[in-house]
Amino acid sequence: LLDRPGLADLAGCQVLVSAGGTREPIDPVRFLGNRSSGRQGYALAAAAAVRGAEVTVVAANVALPDPAGSRVVRVESTEELRTAVLDAAPRADVVIMAAAVADFRAAEIATEKIKKTDADPPPLRLTRTPDVLAELAARRRPGQLLVGFAAETTDPLAGGRAKLAAKGVDVLVINEVGPNRGFDVPTNAASILVADSPDIVDVPLAPKVVVANRILDVVAGLLPGARQ
Ligand code: CTP
Ligand code: CA
Repeated sequence: LLDRPGLADLAGCQVLVSAGGTREPIDPVRFLGNRSSGRQGYALAAAAAVRGAEVTVVAANVALPDPAGSRVVRVESTEELRTAVLDAAPRADVVIMAAAVADFRAAEIATEKIKKTDADPPPLRLTRTPDVLAELAARRRPGQLLVGFAAETTDPLAGGRAKLAAKGVDVLVINEVGPNRGFDVPTNAASILVADSPDIVDVPLAPKVVVANRILDVVAGLLPGARQ
């Protein structure tokens, strides 16, 4: 059913998962968004709960039924996601940042709907959003495991290795974006990298719950007290 029935290797473990994609408002009716459905994050939450974890999900604009056995906190923008994730993180043994978090937001948000005229609209000025994963890494508590995702369209392994080092995470899941994998589809393929290890765990194209359990296998093996 959830691929690994009867496994309780995350019993007593607090797991925080971010899922979905953030939306940055432009005016009261428009936003900048991305194609993330939340399926991979929700599959991680459901699989972690089956394996005995206490799970909190910070869900950005996810239109799916709540994952079984999880507490769900709903957010829209990167700022809201940041607040919810940083609020829950101190209690978490494992933080998995599966959400597609916006890198840019509108520099000014119009309070009224922007009307069209005969002229072309003024250019949309963008500004950076905070990097939540970098903030988590900066304030992580001893023993806490951090899992990042990397959505890549070109040279995924090189991009993933660079992000593993730059982000200061323990595990980096490289998500190739393409046909039947990545955003807004029920299947995924991934390469999982672990800090200070040359090994790569390759997960071939599979339902997202199977990919979720492979990621959790790696996480469970890194937890203090895990049998090596
Ligand atoms: N992330 C985050 N806050 C942001 C942007 C990204 O926490 N403002 C997290 C994502 O949830 C993911 C990881 O950082 O776990 C990597 O996201 P990705 O978009 O692949 O990498 P970026 O560092 O944003 O670099 P780029 O988009 O330029 O490749
Ligand atoms: Ca990004």
